[in-house]
Amino acid sequence: MASASFAKLNAASSAWIGQQSFGQRPGSSSARLTTRRVSLPIRASSYKDELVQTAKSIASPGRGILAIDESNATCGKRLASIGLDNTEVNRQAYRQLLLTTPGLGEYISGAILFEETLYQSTTDGKKFVDCLRNENIVPGIKVDKGLVPLPGSNNESWCQGLDGLASRSAEYYKQGARFAKWRTVVSIPCGPSALAVKEAAWGLARYAAISQDNGLVPIVEPEILLDGDHGIERTLEVAEKVWSEVFYYLAENNVVFEGILLKPSMVTPGAEHKAKAPPEIIAKYTLTMLKRRVPPAVPGIMFLSGGQSEVEATLNLNAMNQSPNPWHVSFSYARALQNTVLKTWQGHPENVEAAQKALLVRAKANSLAQLGKYSAEGESEEAKKGMFVKGYTY
Ligand code: 13P
Repeated sequence: MASASFAKLNAASSAWIGQQSFGQRPGSSSARLTTRRVSLPIRASSYKDELVQTAKSIASPGRGILAIDESNATCGKRLASIGLDNTEVNRQAYRQLLLTTPGLGEYISGAILFEETLYQSTTDGKKFVDCLRNENIVPGIKVDKGLVPLPGSNNESWCQGLDGLASRSAEYYKQGARFAKWRTVVSIPCGPSALAVKEAAWGLARYAAISQDNGLVPIVEPEILLDGDHGIERTLEVAEKVWSEVFYYLAENNVVFEGILLKPSMVTPGAEHKAKAPPEIIAKYTLTMLKRRVPPAVPGIMFLSGGQSEVEATLNLNAMNQSPNPWHVSFSYARALQNTVLKTWQGHPENVEAAQKALLVRAKANSLAQLGKYSAEGESEEAKKGMFVKGYTY
């Protein structure tokens, strides 16, 4: 391609790409003679400074993200585990418990909400987004529309939601959201096929560009599922491939790296592998992968827990923060922050306070892990249980 050798990115506001004159076939002698540079101004998001600021405040020391963006179907599974029906009232009660926990903002810098929650209020009429703002927690929104089968692949899936995303994002911004999340998955036992990896990376990059254009910091989450009996080396190999494609397409879509956050899976052996890896090994492999693939311009790495137990997820995060990293290395856990809370609550109003305390215990533990100062001494048996489900959807 004649243009590639001229490619040059110009600061924040535009990119200039050398191009052939219009109407010439590439490679033809007339094209060679008339090839010249043509400037193609590319508009940078008018939100650029705000995006950088938002990302920085989410990636602040000793804090991480509370992910409670379960779709109604997945939230229903959570509620069913404690014998509650999947009604709007029960979902609101559960989210109210979480989002009104006093002092949460000391450990939590952002909360990812499902659309229903973004527009909901507490039972006494206070908007959930305002409850968060009062605690200095940035409200976020899940914007993908879930996974569907990917035709032509090896039983893999792709993530929907790009149609209408720009207008939805603009509305979410008006409602108070300042960051977004798009979760797609890659399955190691299914290949992964080159097609599935490319589709995942391209979708994430388009979503990231659209989010930034509408003032939302995109969380980029290609979840490499824990499913499978493969060893840790294989996870490393797949993770490196996936992240290299993701960054290739992020760059191609002119995404501002200083205004994104990543939500990777930790590099672990498959959940059905014969041996578990200790936190030091998981930290070593995960950081190796990240250092090889993630530019230091990215402000924060906010891990998902993927079905690990609460204690495992915290120990692994702690191990990754034993020496300085080029980025803020923290958490964006759903299951690893909610397991004990749900079991403590059981849907009874008289248990709300105890459940909120349980949330603070987990949030504080992960805050300490973000600072590399966590010890698992005194953790409950419940916190050591995982919530791994094969082929988990969100
Ligand atoms: P966990 O894997 O931590 O349950 O969360 C996944 C996720 O994407 C939540 O936003």
